[in-house]
Amino acid sequence: MSFRPTRRDALKGFAFTGGAALMSTSGCSEAPAVPVEFLHGVASGDPEETAVIIWTRATATAEVSLLWQVAKDEYFDEIVSEGEASAKPSSDYTVKVDVRGLEPGKSYFYRFLSGETVSPVGRTRTLASKDATKLRLGVISCSHYGFGFYNVYRELAKEPHLDAIVHLGDYIYEYGPDGYGGDVAKEIGREHEPPHEIVTLEDYRTRFSQYRRDADLQAAHAAAPFITIWDDHETANNSWSGGAQNHQPDTEGKWETRRDAALRAYFEWMPMRDPKPGESFYRLHRTYKMGELATLHLIETRLTARSAEVSYDDDMVYFETAYDISNPAAPVALSEEEARSLPPPQIVRVKTPWRESDGTAETDYAKAREWADTGLPGGYFYKPDLERFRTEVLGNPARKFLGDEQMSWIGGELKASRARNVPWQILGNQVIMARMDAPDYTVAFPPEVIDPAIRDNEYTRRWVERTRLRLPINPGAWDGYPVSRQLFYDAVREAEANLVVLTGDSHQFWANDLRETPGGRRIGVEFGTSSVSSKGGYDYLAADPRVYDIAEETLLREVPEIVYCDTRHRGYILLEIDAEAVEAEYKAVSTVRSRDYTVSSLKRLRVTREGPGSLSDIVPV
Ligand SMILES: [Fe+2]
Repeated sequence: MSFRPTRRDALKGFAFTGGAALMSTSGCSEAPAVPVEFLHGVASGDPEETAVIIWTRATATAEVSLLWQVAKDEYFDEIVSEGEASAKPSSDYTVKVDVRGLEPGKSYFYRFLSGETVSPVGRTRTLASKDATKLRLGVISCSHYGFGFYNVYRELAKEPHLDAIVHLGDYIYEYGPDGYGGDVAKEIGREHEPPHEIVTLEDYRTRFSQYRRDADLQAAHAAAPFITIWDDHETANNSWSGGAQNHQPDTEGKWETRRDAALRAYFEWMPMRDPKPGESFYRLHRTYKMGELATLHLIETRLTARSAEVSYDDDMVYFETAYDISNPAAPVALSEEEARSLPPPQIVRVKTPWRESDGTAETDYAKAREWADTGLPGGYFYKPDLERFRTEVLGNPARKFLGDEQMSWIGGELKASRARNVPWQILGNQVIMARMDAPDYTVAFPPEVIDPAIRDNEYTRRWVERTRLRLPINPGAWDGYPVSRQLFYDAVREAEANLVVLTGDSHQFWANDLRETPGGRRIGVEFGTSSVSSKGGYDYLAADPRVYDIAEETLLREVPEIVYCDTRHRGYILLEIDAEAVEAEYKAVSTVRSRDYTVSSLKRLRVTREGPGSLSDIVPV
């Protein structure tokens, strides 16, 4: 669709030559003293049944008043709402209008005008009406500007009849040119602005401004309303309630200052409803009622309550030997059974050094004690105690993914949706929810396939090595917070929700069968979308392209909750919802490194309702 003002626009006096004629009806007939350009396009979002947010940014040098218009047709013959709004320096000249009094389930067109300057025209849509029989959503995530051209946004913009586009986070990335993605960005001429890691409000604004000057992203925004939630990179990598992996307080200041600057820019630049006065910016959770077919619930899982991600290096626990120290001059190594029979003051536990030569334990107390402080000498190693790591570290009930308040909110929303007999409860969620213990890739990948990728790359070599432990692939996903996941599953079961989880973050496509307990009853399904542009994890291992096929076969064979995966492509999910079924179509672009690409449908999967809280297998269509 072309969003240029048409000849008919001009004749009606709405466009370049006759803007003033229309302005006169709205009390700003004077040509504006401040020249304005609309370089960042238009956007809409946060639709309700009878309301939607429309957005633009005026490139101007001082505060300026804009006229906004919403019409039933793209020629603006039938304007249903119009008014004025100010673009102020205090909000980086971004303008948001909460347009109310619209009809449910209807498409509208909108634009902004300043004197003779007219913005591009956007199309938006209110949430479905009660009699809607079908919903169609685009689902996307992870759109690093430097990692590729926005071919995925371009394709999404062409999709007909979208009710909304759900962006599940990593809309921007915080890195400078030497950070993640910088090498590719240099190659394809898409280096980040400003040319350093973004920390201040001005930095985040500049980054948003760069992303939003992209024509393909503008086209996606102009095509359908966005429903968005941030993941970590909108603030900083691996953010949690108290900080972020990529935030160094010593050089970058207080975490809360940076977080608040990042979120302020986010709310300025994203077409979404601002928090109500007194509401915190970072405690964001929202429900979208999509007619009588579905409710979409978006949860904030980074900044409200999340505990720091565990590190398999720093937080690992190792097998220990118990010593009886009742005679301090001669501590005695004990078996576990013996240790259990002694009172605690007599027992000391020390990490057990194991000999590489014959795999036996060193039980000399003095040596073990000394090496625990100074580090192991050559020829020894520590053995991870994985059972204790899972129960005591990952399974520590003090570690939170969602806070108590969030948990009761989502539980209540699921129940309320079921009480209205809404067939589908959809969760817009950032990181993978399914259980995904890593398959042992040191066995799965033949040496000749994996060696070229790990030979000179310490990070990928260690990553592959570590899969021997069969720990969760990503401890930053729900897998790293199993207690919170179980509480969420309890809420889903209690509500008898028909749960469909939409997930981003992983830069790969997934369909997962969520089980209440390992191998237990189905609690819901998860459709995971790949990235818009951000590089896939297996790309780092794929010096030999057989890696993708081997990884996918191995994941499907060894990880019980995975039903489908694609580790190779960038793309999006098209989700179609009716009263009986939800269908996910996985659509991929052939490349993001070039503007020449093809688009294909990788897979179409379907899940149906079988009763309250009971879903069918995920099956191909
Ligand atoms: Fe990402």
